[in-house]
Amino acid sequence: MNAVSPLSPTASADLRVQLGRLALPNPVLVASGTFGYAREMEQVVDLSRLGGIVPKTVTRQPRTGNAPWRTVETPAGMLNSIGLDNDGIDSFLAHHLPYLATLGSPIIVSIAGRTAEEFVEMSAQLSAMAGAAAVELNISCPNVSGGVDFGTSPLMCERLVADCRAACMLPIIAKLTPNVTSIAEIARAAEAGGADAISLINTCQGMAIDWRRRRPILGNVIGGLSGPAIKPIALRCVYQAAKAVKTPLMGIGGIATLDDVMEFLIAGASAVQLGTVNFYNPTVSISVLDGLPASIASLGAHSVSEIVGTLQTDK
Ligand SMILES: Cc1cc2nc3c(=O)[nH]c(=O)nc-3n(C[C@H](O)[C@H](O)[C@H](O)COP(=O)(O)O)c2cc1C
Repeated sequence: MNAVSPLSPTASADLRVQLGRLALPNPVLVASGTFGYAREMEQVVDLSRLGGIVPKTVTRQPRTGNAPWRTVETPAGMLNSIGLDNDGIDSFLAHHLPYLATLGSPIIVSIAGRTAEEFVEMSAQLSAMAGAAAVELNISCPNVSGGVDFGTSPLMCERLVADCRAACMLPIIAKLTPNVTSIAEIARAAEAGGADAISLINTCQGMAIDWRRRRPILGNVIGGLSGPAIKPIALRCVYQAAKAVKTPLMGIGGIATLDDVMEFLIAGASAVQLGTVNFYNPTVSISVLDGLPASIASLGAHSVSEIVGTLQTDK
């Protein structure tokens, strides 16, 4: 029997994806803040197989982050208020990017500025260095004051993306927050600014309380909820953004299985980033990748691009 059955493990599919000017070998990436600077993962994951790696967000100056506690486990995910703890972009360029660039997987450098000037300055710095495949603008971190304005104001978002694009030769990705009234409106602004792709979503604002002590558990009081609990929110955001823009999307939020990945692709994401799942199953990206061709073939398709945004609704 020569025919390949729909769920055959030997099924093949073209996994390559094109996000604006950014070409990726496959649509399975790891999300910022959940994979460190990849060194810690080298022993357990074949990093060269990933569709891309988004290291922890870097800022212009070093940041010590928020007071403890910074993470809390929740029934279907976690809350964090790390507060962009990092050594600053100069240290990143000197110590982390040269290593990351050797891994054989596209490196998408995530940056966050307190001001538009800082975003632009860092984009220009990355443009002048070898090693980064693209820049992801983290305009959505709920754990620092100021920065999130770029992700909640359409006008600021559009201007910021346009300014970074003008200052930087690399593809520009805008990472959006779900903590807005209309995700479609912000996605349109990122598109108008010239984003090559839009990543969504960052964490949803949440909090945890120790009622006996009448105290918040997080040092920063409010943090960002991630993990399986937010998957339906993220799917809804991807679906709404896909209807609003032509810019390719990267789905993020509670993705933990191959079925989750397929749901995001069908909803309209051209690629996905796996986040919180890396803390409890760091090799999951590879097993998802192994199963992806068979799932695509089971829909009668031969490539990722054939199934992106093919959700059928009666609306
Ligand atoms: C501990 C932790 C740290 C994070 N740090 C960052 C960060 O530095 N930059 C960023 O853009 N997103 C950060 N995120 C958000 C994730 O990249 C992702 O957008 C979010 O967690 C939703 O995906 P998930 O549910 O798969 O984790 C962080 C998430 C967690 C849980």
